[in-house]
Amino acid sequence: MRPLRILRAVLWSFFGVRRRADAARDLEDVQPHTILIVGVFVAALFVVGIVLVVRLVMSTASLAPPAPVEATQAPAVGEPRQHGPIIVRDTMEERVRTCTICHGSTTQVSTDGFSPRIAGKPAGYLFNQLVSFRDGRRTYAPMVYLVQYMTDDYLREIATHFAQLDLPYPPPEAAPLTAEAASRARRIVEYGDPSRGVPACMDCHGAKLTGVEPAIPALLGLPRHYMNAQFGAWRGGKLRSIAPDCMAEVARRLAPEDVPALTGWLASQPVPAGMKPEPARPRDLPLKCGSVTALVK
Ligand code: HEC
Ligand code: HEC
Repeated sequence: MRPLRILRAVLWSFFGVRRRADAARDLEDVQPHTILIVGVFVAALFVVGIVLVVRLVMSTASLAPPAPVEATQAPAVGEPRQHGPIIVRDTMEERVRTCTICHGSTTQVSTDGFSPRIAGKPAGYLFNQLVSFRDGRRTYAPMVYLVQYMTDDYLREIATHFAQLDLPYPPPEAAPLTAEAASRARRIVEYGDPSRGVPACMDCHGAKLTGVEPAIPALLGLPRHYMNAQFGAWRGGKLRSIAPDCMAEVARRLAPEDVPALTGWLASQPVPAGMKPEPARPRDLPLKCGSVTALVK
């Protein structure tokens, strides 16, 4: 009977449950250090018991977690949406998925008419633009916000990714131009406007206007509204490139009424199949372009 009495004494001292005479008698009989040792042992048993009960409850209450879902595609219509951890593949394609909302993707080619297409442009050109948004030379707020904390190396990776993409082009836009305006635009593209010191667009953008590696973009396949906005920004000093800024200089030298003719004519030209920028060439440009020399040392 003694172990039981010790246990009872311990419980009484633990929980303060007293039965007057009984409790006092039990406690008198047992040594304090025995109460302590047995007390610690009982407490440990108590804790182990609680842990076991909690684990048992948890394992029966929670069902096995659903299999991870790969976040590549939304479920088809009518298919139940799975809830579970979403695993996004760590590829450049996934990281730049937001960009395709405005700049187009394989499934959604036409853009909003203002955001330029970026797929297939020379990597050096794209890199220069991303750096310009980050460093304040270009100011379109959503773009600045997206790239403002990115390093040169990461921007170069993004630029290379888009330069390698080969997406279909939207069809040419209808040109709202008189025949006279269209032929003037074509003349400037091919021969420039010597009376105002404007060089031929082809001298820099390539004989077929398909751009030249590494830093000069094509003039085909661009939305008219986008080009008009660019010319307005160059002329107003809102769009700058690395100095000397040849394109801003060309824009300022052009007669203002020639700008809509040029952009309308360019946007109405068909894009040759499989358009690629011309390879880099060692020829001098008619004006010095800082954005080209920054890449070709
Ligand atoms: C909200 C729509 C939107 C999103 C999202 C967006 N862009 Fe843009 N982007 C634009 C617009 C509009 C311009 C033209 C702005 C201007 O005129 O300066 C632009 C310009 C650019 C240019 C310069 C193109 C050229 O031909 O000069 C590059 C490069 C670019 N964006 C890359 C990206 C990348 C990379 C992402 C994703 C990280 C992205 N954009 C996300 C709207 C967007
Ligand atoms: C001296 C060389 C040079 C000449 C001449 C030139 N460009 Fe450019 N152009 C450039 C460079 C370099 C860029 C890229 C600008 C940058 O990096 O900021 C550019 C960019 C552009 C862009 C922006 C394209 C885009 O994807 O955002 C347009 C539009 C453009 N040029 C139109 C023209 C037209 C039209 C002419 C003829 C009137 C012309 N350019 C003549 C060098 C030239």
